Amino acid sequence: MVRTLDDVDVAGKRVLLRADLNVPMHEGRITDLTRLERLTPTIRELLEKKARLAICSHFGRPKGKRVPEMSLRPVATALAEVLGRPVGFVEDCIGEVAERAVAALAPGEALVLENTRFHPGEEANDPEMAKALARLADIYVNDAFSAAHRAHASTEGIAHYLPAYAGRLMQRELEALSAALEHPNHPVAAVVGGAKVSTKLDLLSNLLSRVDALVIGGAMANTFLAAQGIDVGQSLQEPEMHETARGILAAAKAKGTEILLPLDVVVTDKLAPGAAAETVPVSAVPRERIIVDVGPETVARIGEHLGRWKTLVWNGPLGAFEVPPFDRGTVALAVKVAEATARGGLLSVAGGGDTVAALRQAGVVEKLSYVSTAGGAFLEWLEGKTLPGVAVLG
Ligand code: 3PG
Repeated sequence: MVRTLDDVDVAGKRVLLRADLNVPMHEGRITDLTRLERLTPTIRELLEKKARLAICSHFGRPKGKRVPEMSLRPVATALAEVLGRPVGFVEDCIGEVAERAVAALAPGEALVLENTRFHPGEEANDPEMAKALARLADIYVNDAFSAAHRAHASTEGIAHYLPAYAGRLMQRELEALSAALEHPNHPVAAVVGGAKVSTKLDLLSNLLSRVDALVIGGAMANTFLAAQGIDVGQSLQEPEMHETARGILAAAKAKGTEILLPLDVVVTDKLAPGAAAETVPVSAVPRERIIVDVGPETVARIGEHLGRWKTLVWNGPLGAFEVPPFDRGTVALAVKVAEATARGGLLSVAGGGDTVAALRQAGVVEKLSYVSTAGGAFLEWLEGKTLPGVAVLG
């Protein structure tokens, strides 16, 4: 288990909070405040306990250089609005200017430091960068699960120089994830979607060793269907992965893990909004067409299982959800998962950028047990990897 804010007295101390302020931005405007909103419990608790709070984060991928469009200044302004209290901003995250600003903080005051990735030492996990960050504070708190798969100076290196604790968001995230896969109530199922089997091999093999049922959707399901001799027409698939897919199916059979592949699919001529489409059984995909979603029979079948499953982990949409109406299968399943969760029998945990976008489209983000805003970190956790930013908090 990790150390948390229950294990430390922060009153009057300088606290460096590693947050994930890497929010989506379009033409200078933040398009989704979820990451900021989720940080507020930790920030409020630290300020109420009279910490002197410096918040650091990366933003975008500036590759060790100062890139004005990747300044955290507008994000600091947005954070102040979300919190409803003033938050200062400092033009650098290390060095004299940062040290002086943090030293001047009164207990219960907060500021945001400029993008850690403006320094090459951040991604290189340079000990000098970690030490420079550590000089700012007495205590280090990490609330950035979504950046914990990166062994960077502000996520990993610094913990070697300061007492390190998990913030409340990190704690909540770890609790939800371990309830779902480390000591879950069985039967456990996973829904895995997305385009390619080849990018999700580690994930599939880790899940296979942990779950009782595996639902495969998205274009990766086409590869599994084709590997069994089913004609998937012109659909996206990976012929070079057929052998691997057959291996996964055989391993699942030997272990008694149920694999659920699409029974019916939506096919079309081209992947375009509103394109003409029809639903066909997987055995009758027209040669010149492409599969773009699962059909209603598939969703109904998964729905029947949902009443029995106690735990569900979901990563990846079932179809081309970004091109309506091919979001229907994913949205319909999302609603069923939300209903099963509301009935009280199912612990449902989902994560990954596309998955969260699909759940938002379905209007159920708040209705699952836990939805992680982490992308890469959530995937690496599903792959069974140790996240360096979490390991240093234990
Ligand atoms: C994310 O948005 O997934 C995290 O902030 C990590 O960002 P990165 O992939 O640029 O490290």
